[in-house]
Amino acid sequence: MNERDSEIIYSLMIHKGYIPVKLYEDADVIIFNTCAVRRHAEDRVWGKLNELKGLKAKKARLVSGFMPTDVADRGVIIGLVGCMGKAYGKEVFKRLPHVDFVCGPSNIYDIPVLVEKASSGRRNVCSIARGSRSLDREKCSKGFARSLYLYREDNVSSFVNISYGCNNFCSYCIVPYVRGREVSRPREAIIEEVKYLVDKGIKEVTFLGQNVNSYKFPDRGSAAGKNDFVRLLEAVNNVSGLERIRFMTSHPKDANTGLFKAIAGLDKVCEHLHLPLQSGSDRILRLMNRGYTSGRYLKLIDDMRMIAPGCAITTDIIVGFPSESEEDFEHTRDIIDRIGFDSAFIFKYSPRPFTKSLEMDDDVPMQVKRRRNQDLLDLQAKKARENNARFIGNIENALGISPAKRPPDSSGDVSDCYIKARTRKNHQIVCKADRSLIGRVFDVKITGVQGNTLIGDMV
Ligand code: 5AD
Ligand code: SF4
Repeated sequence: MNERDSEIIYSLMIHKGYIPVKLYEDADVIIFNTCAVRRHAEDRVWGKLNELKGLKAKKARLVSGFMPTDVADRGVIIGLVGCMGKAYGKEVFKRLPHVDFVCGPSNIYDIPVLVEKASSGRRNVCSIARGSRSLDREKCSKGFARSLYLYREDNVSSFVNISYGCNNFCSYCIVPYVRGREVSRPREAIIEEVKYLVDKGIKEVTFLGQNVNSYKFPDRGSAAGKNDFVRLLEAVNNVSGLERIRFMTSHPKDANTGLFKAIAGLDKVCEHLHLPLQSGSDRILRLMNRGYTSGRYLKLIDDMRMIAPGCAITTDIIVGFPSESEEDFEHTRDIIDRIGFDSAFIFKYSPRPFTKSLEMDDDVPMQVKRRRNQDLLDLQAKKARENNARFIGNIENALGISPAKRPPDSSGDVSDCYIKARTRKNHQIVCKADRSLIGRVFDVKITGVQGNTLIGDMV
């Protein structure tokens, strides 16, 4: 979600005539697009911003010889945007007076105006009011809408927002407070964006939403149905020239067999489901306000494996949620062992502002969180190794993404070309293949595994 927001910010700035540069020293404007989901990420942003104090002072001195003082004295414009912007608002200026503007994730379209205000000498410029990421903006002039597509990180695969915000209020999660209530984008806007991307050579789209399964056609009002997301997949499956459709994130309380049938039946929809479990303990799931039990989760996985055999499953897990006992933790461990996820993000619980769980005692000591985290990482690595080993000898369909270095133990001519590609199940693969295959789909025979990367030869 943040990566896509960063692309939009780049696009807006490029539309205004700015050019991306690699070094802070060369920049006139530095924007930190931030995440507030865990404390660790925030601490790194505070640290980085602090480091820029010196650069700002130096730049201010450099330009002050030939700029009017109000501009000169800003040196370089620094902005803190995204979820930390919304969470901390004007407090940012108190902590770090050299920051010029702050902006929330729903207000990123305001950034060019905020930069302009800050450049003309205004201080403490702030835009964190609710929901100006209005869908009206998307309906406004084609020129503006097009400008949102100007910058994409990747020429082969693109993110496409289908909804913003979240209504679920999991007790540990800051997202509903910083990204607001869930709003679905109109189906026409999504299809138009996909067609535009395909026209530009994009072969794979990943639909983004905090909970894609609760996507609702906004134009259908109360007639909106449970399976609108599946209807959207069906519609986009018909876009010619597009090779693959991915999506994340699915919520176990809303995922259903209709979705699994779409994965199995729609040729462009990839066989990969990211389905966050969070915990294997029903008591903790209740405290987390997740709306399902471990039994329901396991049933979903059974249904999916029946309907779409071979579909990869990945997940998110939190260890050390308030009051998590060894027994609760063992339930989580047990489910990871039973399901055998293809990969899992495993996080240590981090208390967040505004959330319900902030009122609970963060009583699992850091050392226990670390041990549980490591324990699950080790188990998951073992499971992933077992899963990956099963691929050896298989033929997988791959989409060429970018040039790659020669894998360390591959034999053969050093002049051989290698490319990075992705299987439909979302495994990264390095294979000996011509660079002309970047942006194309082709079949690969899997010959080995290194870490989490499959190694293969084109067939
Ligand atoms: N502490 C730790 N992990 C969290 N996540 C969300 N909030 C927190 C938190 N307070 C994790 C969840 C979610 C993923 C994006 O981040 O696992 O699925
Ligand atoms: Fe956060 Fe829960 Fe919404 Fe995911 S579903 S964004 S974890 S509140």
